[in-house]
Amino acid sequence: MKHQESIEKRRTFGIIAHPDAGKTTLTEKLLLFGGAIQTAGAVKNSKIKKAATSDFMEIEKQRGISVATSVMAFEYGGKQVNILDTPGHKDFAEDTYRTLTAVDSVILVIDCANGVEMQTEKLMEVCRMRKTPVIIFVNKMDREGKDAFTLLDELEDKLDLKVRPLTWPIGMGDRFKGVYNLYDHNINLFQANKTKISKEIVSISDLADPQLNELLGDAVANELREDVEMIDGVYNPFDKADYLAGDVAPVFFGSAVNNFGIQELLDTFIKISPSPRGRETDLRRIEPSDPKFSGFVFKIHANLDPKHRDRIAFLRIVSGKFERNTFYNHVRLGKKFKFPNPTSFMAQDKSVIDEAFPGDVIGLYDTGNFKIGDTLNEGEKFMFKGIPSFSPEIFQELENLDPSKSKQLEKGIRQLTDEGVAQMFIQQPGNRKIVGTVGQLQFEVIVHRLVNEYGANCRFVPRNYHIACWITTENEVQLKSFLNAKTGNMAKDKDDNWVFLAETPYLLDRAEQDYPDLKFHRTSDFKLS
Ligand code: G4P
Repeated sequence: MKHQESIEKRRTFGIIAHPDAGKTTLTEKLLLFGGAIQTAGAVKNSKIKKAATSDFMEIEKQRGISVATSVMAFEYGGKQVNILDTPGHKDFAEDTYRTLTAVDSVILVIDCANGVEMQTEKLMEVCRMRKTPVIIFVNKMDREGKDAFTLLDELEDKLDLKVRPLTWPIGMGDRFKGVYNLYDHNINLFQANKTKISKEIVSISDLADPQLNELLGDAVANELREDVEMIDGVYNPFDKADYLAGDVAPVFFGSAVNNFGIQELLDTFIKISPSPRGRETDLRRIEPSDPKFSGFVFKIHANLDPKHRDRIAFLRIVSGKFERNTFYNHVRLGKKFKFPNPTSFMAQDKSVIDEAFPGDVIGLYDTGNFKIGDTLNEGEKFMFKGIPSFSPEIFQELENLDPSKSKQLEKGIRQLTDEGVAQMFIQQPGNRKIVGTVGQLQFEVIVHRLVNEYGANCRFVPRNYHIACWITTENEVQLKSFLNAKTGNMAKDKDDNWVFLAETPYLLDRAEQDYPDLKFHRTSDFKLS
């Protein structure tokens, strides 16, 4: 197959959702419709979202499973669909943000009763920053939920995005009769069925057709006619270019657990979703069609066996062709590496691959050379931009309980932060290690791993910070006076950038007013611009 065809064929995307909205179920159903699995239940137990506290077995299990199910690939409609798994647990949100840098589009799952929930808003913020095309799937229509128009308004409002329904629900809950396909003008009648795929599609070319009344009853048929008239009046016709630009999100309705509305979603996804896209670097934009290989690391997984310190670095290929046993530049280290055992991840199977193309994600065995955000390429040297760190939400100080093990602790915490488990800030002046995460669970993972994998002895002490902001300025004098005034709140990140740790939003506001020449960045993206 020609290189360009290999690129055009790929569709690499992620499914995001607030926990419990149905991400796991939808992933599984897409695999089912795509023919990658034969029975429901294969993906199901891959989550720990209900393990809220220190269940280390669960944490270990999560680490294992997320390697196994990191990329799920199948062929459908002539395309190779790569689904990148994103952790459902909110404490792993940072991992999800980074995975979003490696996808070309996103399917967002919403629970029709809960509408837009907190985690959805945050995840969508990341998509908006990157202009990632989004398709929305409103799930659980077999249950009572919010009115469809109200939901669409809520989506536009809270997600700051335009929407365009492409299917429309006929009733909901006990009265859920199916979905009307606003594009193909046909009706898919609902039958609650968790194992079989419904094929009952009736074509209705004209909504005035009396057949509609026979199928749905007079009241429901008339309601559908009114709804469709309203949709056509309120929403602009769907424009693929607007979707690809990240400006409009098409919306589908259905019930994942009942296999309902998935076909419409998958068929449209195949038709409209983008093939692999280029990425910005510090030199220029790199397109997938560039003949030279390039890619970036967006995730690192430690080996589950603590006796083997090797890790797996997940590399998204941006351009050219990756080949096994070929030397490539590790740009940050200025060294060349080759990889004898690159792997692909397809559902539960891991297999060694000889080559991979733009849009693919491969796993590289690593003995500690990679950090998240690293670029691997051939030819001219450049670094990919845009794997930002966000301000953590919880801050704790790492305390060493055994001075004879300081080296182990130092090495361990550096490696874990390279893996992206947490961010570390070194308080200035001094050497206190402030560790920031988005969830409490992360601290338990870190202590557990520092003790078990590195032989350290340590604990975390809560610190009362609210946000970390990266500071840049041209005004060195003002920076100096700020540093003097804020001793105790200043730290350096691991790339030696200044970071202000503010206890309250008010103190951050004040700092911004009092020091107008300092820029306070909420994400570390500034380093890359
Ligand atoms: P998540 O990955 O986004 O966290 O959600 P997941 O798919 O695990 O779904 C959360 C719960 O919602 C599951 O129930 C699942 O069966 C249910 N669910 C998913 N899709 C639908 C749907 O279309 N309609 C209805 N009514 N429920 C749906 P659970 O009780 O947590 O698990 P289980 O015991 O059913 O497996």
